[in-house]
Amino acid sequence: MDAFAGVLFGRALVIAVRRALFDGLASGPMSENQIASHTGLNSRALRLFLDACVVAGYLSHRNGAYHLAAEGRKWLLKDSPDSLVNLIAYFETLHARWGHLETSLEHGAPAHPYYEVFNEEDWRVYVLGMRDLARLLLPHVIEKILPGSAARNMLDLGGSHGLYAIECCRRRPGLRARVVDFEPALAHASTFVRESGLSGRIELHAGNFLSDPLPPNQDVVLMFNIIHGLSPAENRTLVARALEALRPGGKLFVLDQMRDEGSSSSSLARFIPLMVGLNLLNEIGGTAYSIAEVKSWCEGHSVRQVKVRLPGVAFVEIQRPHQTSNS
Ligand SMILES: C[S@@+](CC[C@H](N)C(=O)[O-])C[C@H]1O[C@@H](n2cnc3c(N)ncnc32)[C@H](O)[C@@H]1O
Repeated sequence: MDAFAGVLFGRALVIAVRRALFDGLASGPMSENQIASHTGLNSRALRLFLDACVVAGYLSHRNGAYHLAAEGRKWLLKDSPDSLVNLIAYFETLHARWGHLETSLEHGAPAHPYYEVFNEEDWRVYVLGMRDLARLLLPHVIEKILPGSAARNMLDLGGSHGLYAIECCRRRPGLRARVVDFEPALAHASTFVRESGLSGRIELHAGNFLSDPLPPNQDVVLMFNIIHGLSPAENRTLVARALEALRPGGKLFVLDQMRDEGSSSSSLARFIPLMVGLNLLNEIGGTAYSIAEVKSWCEGHSVRQVKVRLPGVAFVEIQRPHQTSNS
């Protein structure tokens, strides 16, 4: 079933989302023939998928018509505040890249990391997908990353869409943020920043966070979904540079899908990071790390794991001491 149903349902789901099947049901129930003409799919073929969506809890079937169920309405509509439609579109990109998984497993990395082969449209899909994920995470982390009202500077390394910088600046009028990412990602972030009206306070820095200097005196530095794409040596160096960029007492936050060795965790919480790690291996030669590994990169600093109620997601706060020990 792992090798069959999960893979096939996932393929069908991304096609249905791309053809706005669920959006079509937003204004009311439809028969399978109506859904067929809305999506351009064959009604007999469609019925198998629609009934699978009923079993999966996205649709219900009553009086000869398909209705959106609460789960479908929440996650699968383009205009839902919790929409994962863009993330699912990105999964379609990944499905195509999983065709090369065997090569990545043989060599420990893909022949070409994603950033070498993505075209403009791939970048758009990637950034919007990451933004869906960030919208899902945001309510769980915003109060934790938000610096005090006297804070002046924040830095988001690999900040992609800019959502975290936008939300922090919105809540802290004295704050300025720099988002560092590759230029094709920031091309989309610039639209979101402009729409937020915060262009004057959010700087989009197109560059490489592994080699570009990091500005000093930061109240907050974010590394969200970054460590899984880097080697241990790169992470050790980047964490050290991020800590160096903090003002005394400032905080670095690392969020990732980390290996969970705790036997009390659910299978899902232990499985998701491994699959994200495997996907990152195929995307960029990445992996899934553990909290213990993150701690080993932060010698001499207080590291605190902050609970987030999302399976497989680990969130770590590392504070730079207020004073150096010999001062
Ligand atoms: C998985 S996404 C995470 C985006 C965002 N931090 C979030 O959590 O929603 C990783 C981001 O890091 C960027 N990135 C990866 N390596 C980078 C590098 N060396 N320099 C700058 N950006 C990089 C990618 O372009 C991508 O936008």
